Amino acid sequence: MSKVVITEVHGKVGLIRINRPEALNALNNEVVDGIGAAIDGFEADENIGCIVLTGNEKAFAAGADIGFMKDFDYMHAYKTDFITRNWERIKTTRKPVIAAVAGFALGGGCEMAMMCDMIFAADTAKFGQPEIRLGTMPGAGGTQRLPRGVGKAKAMDLCLTARMMDAAEAEKAGLVARIIPAEQLLDETLKAAATIAGFSLPVVMMIKESVNRAFESSLNEGLLFERRVFHSAFALEDQKEGMAAFVEKRKPAFRNC
Ligand code: CAA
Repeated sequence: MSKVVITEVHGKVGLIRINRPEALNALNNEVVDGIGAAIDGFEADENIGCIVLTGNEKAFAAGADIGFMKDFDYMHAYKTDFITRNWERIKTTRKPVIAAVAGFALGGGCEMAMMCDMIFAADTAKFGQPEIRLGTMPGAGGTQRLPRGVGKAKAMDLCLTARMMDAAEAEKAGLVARIIPAEQLLDETLKAAATIAGFSLPVVMMIKESVNRAFESSLNEGLLFERRVFHSAFALEDQKEGMAAFVEKRKPAFRNC
């Protein structure tokens, strides 16, 4: 594993730290490939029930690496499938991923945070899509996920003016699940991740898949998907255990099956 990406295991939680502080964690191929490899590892590890992606106190990530891509031409970007080739590993993992964001989450950094299942923000977090200043546009989902997260008006405002949004505004707009004092961000995020990882993994995956369906389908299709998955949950031993434990007034012992 490359040192620009550091992994740690905290109980049943896999932690991925982006570690390029000298470039405010700008996302080059080495970093994005490293994140992908870390996710592959945690996905394959049966002990892991939830993943946390974080940066450092100054930056989650200040965007795609500008120096790395400044001389790309169209054919290079197209042939190498820039962004799609490696960034989207985050959205394909079936285990939940929480982005713990302190400091800058700009451009590709904001987009990467939005690829995660939820964002916990330090009170120092700053979100934005400032690509327009560089003579380009968001290319890792910013024009699509931001309107779904914060609505069209604010998404237009951020993408067209390049202004940054602080944690309070991001939470009010619905982009952020929780705001946490910066010094407690990682501990609190790991605690929430441990809570998730303590539940039945197949149920966690079913819920993640079902909530994501809300963004990919009509309400009726989404409801049908949810109902069918809910019905299938009656096939789980963990469902029998969870409901029996409630009735018997004891803690359930989930076995992920
Ligand atoms: N790419 C490469 N290097 C970056 C970077 C980036 N996105 N963001 C910051 N850095 C580097 C700086 O070049 C600088 O390096 P040196 O010390 O070697 O000069 C170092 O990180 C520290 O940055 P600053 O000195 O600029 O720090 P600051 O506190 O004065 O400003 C900032 C912070 C406002 C975040 C500023 O760094 C900045 O505007 N960064 C660029 C943000 C941006 O435009 N992001 C979008 C990138 S394009 C994209 O992401 C496309 C996409 O959708 C996929």
